[in-house]
Amino acid sequence: ALCLLAACISAAAAVQSQDKQHSYRNFKLIRINPENDATLAYLKSLYEEESPYTLDFWQPPSHVGGVVDLTVAPSDASSLIRDLSARGIHYIVAIHDLQKAIETERAVASWAHPPKGFGYERYNSLDEIYNELKRLKRERPSLITLIDIGQTHENRTMLVVKIGGGQSLDEDAPSIWLDAGIHAREWIAPATAMFIVRELVEGYETDPKLQAMLDHVPFYILPVMNPDGYEHSRTMDRMWRKNRRPAECHNKEWHTVCCRGVDLNRNFDWYWAAPTVPLPASGSSSDSCHDTYHGPAAFSEPESIAVRDFLEAYPPKAFISLHSYSQMWLIPFGHRRRSYPPDYSSALRPLAIRATKALEAIHGTKYQVGTGADLMYEASGGSHDWAKGALKVPFSYLIELRPRNTLFGNGFLLPEREIIPVGNETWAAIRVLADEVFSQF
Ligand code: ARG
Ligand code: ZN
Repeated sequence: ALCLLAACISAAAAVQSQDKQHSYRNFKLIRINPENDATLAYLKSLYEEESPYTLDFWQPPSHVGGVVDLTVAPSDASSLIRDLSARGIHYIVAIHDLQKAIETERAVASWAHPPKGFGYERYNSLDEIYNELKRLKRERPSLITLIDIGQTHENRTMLVVKIGGGQSLDEDAPSIWLDAGIHAREWIAPATAMFIVRELVEGYETDPKLQAMLDHVPFYILPVMNPDGYEHSRTMDRMWRKNRRPAECHNKEWHTVCCRGVDLNRNFDWYWAAPTVPLPASGSSSDSCHDTYHGPAAFSEPESIAVRDFLEAYPPKAFISLHSYSQMWLIPFGHRRRSYPPDYSSALRPLAIRATKALEAIHGTKYQVGTGADLMYEASGGSHDWAKGALKVPFSYLIELRPRNTLFGNGFLLPEREIIPVGNETWAAIRVLADEVFSQF
């Protein structure tokens, strides 16, 4: 199985890993634009098969011309680079010292310099986010309802904010669901969800059309779907992705390895744990040390259970899940290439194209539209696939926010100054979707 740096630790490292901050000193971000099938096959073998190196694929290999981002541990960097050179594969070292990039992010970021409190232009802590939601609720008690939908492994609350639709929960009313932060390190996602909260709350008073819509079609927004992971990524390991399920141990070669966390976006009951062809573990892994570990069973995790139970009780007309990064508006299904719901071409794709056009009109940001499997890689157990395939939500999408996986940008380390622009353009797209739901239901 593949060894990913954020999750895969040797037995020796496991002993001392518990409460120490994870350092990425001299880890490198390598960026490769695979120009031919041989290069692609080599990168896929690194991703999918037993690799001698400690690698973390921020952007897994998918097709010729699709940029691959991977980080490599300092001890393996020179060997990997030797291999690449020997094969004539062009690469750039986009980040020479990931730890330094993380420290720079902190040094220039306003969130790291307290006391500040919540700010829409910042990457806030979970407490700051929840305090802001409570403040909004105090200011506008009739517009806003806060719903505690469950507890995490570490007993944090999962808080949904309902905007519009009156104070009672109505199972039959049309609604729009939006979650963010299912993956811990994708900080721009919760920040964008909060931007949309503010747009809705303020727009309700100033925009009569929005008010009419929200009276009829409320939004349910879960700004941090993975609170344990989010806090862990802020305090202990900037590149943490999964939730914080307590460690599971298994024997690997001659020693025991214990790893924490489940990839919540592999834990939904949609072809859960289905092996991908021809190689296993490309998009969903049975290895608890892997960053895409699907968990011991579908819906084994408190976070995915809470979301499932809420959505089954209040099924929405649209489901949106915010991620980063690569600027893609993804449509179901992502578990197999060339697999589409029946209304893919008649409804889902045309709306996605209209939404991304509205997005591009704001700052010129370009999005690709299609299924995650066609544009990237196959991955089973995804929440947006489950929402469409199992729950039958009419419009279901996964949005990969900025940056684009081009030769620029620091991946998950998106500067705070982009929070507001990302919010503005994403809101323009979601407005198109909301107007469509309002006109249909
Ligand atoms: N990056 C997201 C994830 O890994 C999106 C996956 C979308 N689906 C897919 N089949 N590629 O969960
Ligand atoms: Zn993600």
